[in-house]
Amino acid sequence: MDKIEKRIIISSLALMGLFVFSLLYARNKYKSDVPECLPYDKAYSEPKVTKLDDKTYQVFSVAQMWQFQPAEIYIPVGSEVDFYLTSKDVVHGFNIAGKNVNMMAVYGAINKTTVKFDEPGVYDIICHEYCGIGHQNMRAQVIVNYPSAK
Ligand code: CUA
Repeated sequence: MDKIEKRIIISSLALMGLFVFSLLYARNKYKSDVPECLPYDKAYSEPKVTKLDDKTYQVFSVAQMWQFQPAEIYIPVGSEVDFYLTSKDVVHGFNIAGKNVNMMAVYGAINKTTVKFDEPGVYDIICHEYCGIGHQNMRAQVIVNYPSAK
């Protein structure tokens, strides 16, 4: 085998090792939650927000041309939210500003991820997958308020 060829193969393997290491490192350090795909029998078509307890919510989000439902999601600060995501038509994207969320909304499939909202504010959800003429208007918001005084 040629010397240069050998070097290229070795550096490619080293680079692959570095990529895998970086992935595992990032996953542990940032506790990133890899989105899961749920089986089809868990399918839903109605968008809704379910409160499990004071700090735990479930959002069943439905994407369709060119909107997300529910469009406004109100939760108290410090909440942990399970986002379920599906599409009624084409493939849409689902990105929450400032959060490590990058999901696809796919017809007939459900993706799920969990996000914790520790800071109050308004978090924009945008579609970041071109889905047709109204794509740029496709958005929703997570509104994270201070906890109600009790
Ligand atoms: Cu939906 Cu772009």
